[in-house]
Amino acid sequence: MTTTEPSGVRRGLDAQTLEELRQIGARYPQARSGLLPMLHLVQSVEGQVTAEGIEACAQILGISAAEVAGVATFYTMYKRRPVGDYYVGVCTNTLCAVMGGDAIVERLEEHLGIGNDETTPDDGTGRTITLEHVECNAACDYAPVVMVNWEFMDNMDPASATRLVDDLRAGAEVRSTRGPRICTWREAERVLAGFNDGLADEGPAAGPATLVGLRTARANGWRAPEASTSSDDADNEADPAGDKQDSNDGNDSRGGK
Ligand code: FES
Repeated sequence: MTTTEPSGVRRGLDAQTLEELRQIGARYPQARSGLLPMLHLVQSVEGQVTAEGIEACAQILGISAAEVAGVATFYTMYKRRPVGDYYVGVCTNTLCAVMGGDAIVERLEEHLGIGNDETTPDDGTGRTITLEHVECNAACDYAPVVMVNWEFMDNMDPASATRLVDDLRAGAEVRSTRGPRICTWREAERVLAGFNDGLADEGPAAGPATLVGLRTARANGWRAPEASTSSDDADNEADPAGDKQDSNDGNDSRGGK
């Protein structure tokens, strides 16, 4: 059965969802290239990758259900158990762990009364939380990092992480530390399926800590080596010992600048 939330997010693989799955496949020269966003769309309506969703993707793409299941079980972003309204992922990879990620997980498990990959009980408010420790989010410059529905919460600690989940459960407006408002997990999954919610430009593209290296390079006049051309390659083949003078001396970073 298909139902629609006040936010407009539908639950259940109805005719519209099946049509949207077909639309995603049609975006690509080879339809099976659309499998990843199709699985995100399934998650946006089912709250997980269901057997029904796998079968629907397989039929539309003309591949086997086993092939779809192989993809859905390979990537951790696809969930085979129902995810709550807010997916809270705490990075416990090396840097975040030593900077306090492990302590954040411990505090949240105790505070929420759930373990890893578990969801708080549904109290009818539509604000359940799934907690999971995750691998590096490529945001190590802001460690320790927590993600809510794939939005970054930078430089967290046990106290701020506890306030975060309390605000989510209370229905308060929560924003990523980088600006964007936190939507529900299903809404975020629909965006990942390629259906724009018009909010992609909320918040900066990169924060100050991420840009330190770029600023330092500019201040010192450093730049990446020029890409080699096919004629350079031919010269190198003719001069394998590298005795030829480098015409770019002093202009790139290979000399230690
Ligand atoms: S180790 Fe946590 S973001 Fe890289």
